[in-house]
Amino acid sequence: MPVSVVIGSQWGDEGKGKIVDLISQDVDIVARYQGGANAGHTICWEDKTFVLHLIPSGIFQEGVDCVIGNGVVIDPVAMMQEIGMVRDLGYDVEGRLFISHNAHLIMPYHKRIEEAREKFRDGGAIGTTGRGIGPAYVDKFARTGIRVVDLLDRDVLRKKILASMEEKNAILEKIYGAEKIDVEALIEEYVEFDKLIDPYITDTTEFLCRSLKEGKRILAEGAQGSLLDVDFGTYPFVTSSHPTVGGCCTGLGVPPTAIDRVIGIVKAYSTRVGNGPFPTELDNAQGEELRKTGHEFGATTGRPRRCGWLDLVALNYTSMINGFTELAITKLDVLSNLEEIKICTDYKLNGKTIRRFPSDLPSLALVEPQYITMPGWKTDITGITDWDALPIEARNYLNFVTNYLEVPAHIIATGPKREQTIVL
Ligand code: GDP
Ligand code: IMO
Ligand code: MG
Repeated sequence: MPVSVVIGSQWGDEGKGKIVDLISQDVDIVARYQGGANAGHTICWEDKTFVLHLIPSGIFQEGVDCVIGNGVVIDPVAMMQEIGMVRDLGYDVEGRLFISHNAHLIMPYHKRIEEAREKFRDGGAIGTTGRGIGPAYVDKFARTGIRVVDLLDRDVLRKKILASMEEKNAILEKIYGAEKIDVEALIEEYVEFDKLIDPYITDTTEFLCRSLKEGKRILAEGAQGSLLDVDFGTYPFVTSSHPTVGGCCTGLGVPPTAIDRVIGIVKAYSTRVGNGPFPTELDNAQGEELRKTGHEFGATTGRPRRCGWLDLVALNYTSMINGFTELAITKLDVLSNLEEIKICTDYKLNGKTIRRFPSDLPSLALVEPQYITMPGWKTDITGITDWDALPIEARNYLNFVTNYLEVPAHIIATGPKREQTIVL
């Protein structure tokens, strides 16, 4: 089992943090490959609950090393705060956390430009997390980004920031009518990260590939979800990276041939935070009920998550592009009290029944989800750890999903805590 990848199969917040923390017990290294502090991964055990944004969700497991790969965009302020939090909790970070020298940095102007752009978008705001993610990836691909390695040389860093700021301040002021950034203060702030981040900076690709040769097991932790992928998601209402399986190779530098396990994390219903199409959304009391029972509020921004029924058309699509070898189905307990549960099995588009997930917004706006209705189990299954202890209706629900997708489920989560899990 050289590389396993954990991937959100929906629009994020499927419970990746919980599952990565759990699987970390059996691996040597956990590595984040894309996204940044837009992610909010919750980890719970006993009476403890923590949310991680940048540090991989394996950090609380003894003996596990953590990598932040080249594909991640790093906000050094958020990074240092998170390192401080984990250290204060009594966990070693130095010597266990390795940050790629090639990763790009989020700068204060990225957040300001993002805020201004959201106001300017004529197709409506994306509803981003405001963490500067989009503009940082734009700079990366425009080849004007500033990377972790640049922090090591004060003169280079100063020159790069000065060169970049000229353009950025002109854009902020002249195009968006927004406030300019104080360049000197910014340089002052960023040169200080040199000393702070230095102990963690590593050639992580070399580290990971060497570890593979030594027979170590790596778990790659995706952030966001497949339907937020910039190529395969509900564009333009997506994030600016590749949460799907290909992102693991480009974001870490591990070869695709090293991946032998692709774990799709499936929430037992659907949620989405931010704007954009959501065919099975329940914009009614039922949706409100799911939000309340599932505590569906963003781990990063606190925004209420939009809720709806499970969408197998969408899941079949994300399973296809990622090649899921197994599923982990989370939050089954949230459905405990429902009389009936619906599952979307087809879409109707212009009078025709389809199973293809349309990629264009006009079609997605028109699709009418077709549901089957299954009886609920109407009994609290929170904390069940044994498949046979699940009510027959719950087992039928899970079997229907795995049969439809033709992918087995190896993990079923019945509560937020590490120990509230069925492992098959
Ligand atoms: P991630 O971004 O995919 O890591 O997911 P988040 O942490 O943003 O959101 C998932 C939320 O559901 C968190 O509050 C978790 O503690 C919680 N959670 C995860 N698995 C389960 C589960 O099986 N049951 C319940 N009730 N909560 C869960
Ligand atoms: P985790 O890893 C859910 C959403 C935002 C917005 C869109 C673009 O916790 O599952 P961005 O700030 O990335 O430019 O915002 O993507 N989004 C997420 N939604 N979970 C996340 O991460 C998300 N990260 C970004 O709400 O709709
Ligand atoms: Mg989250």
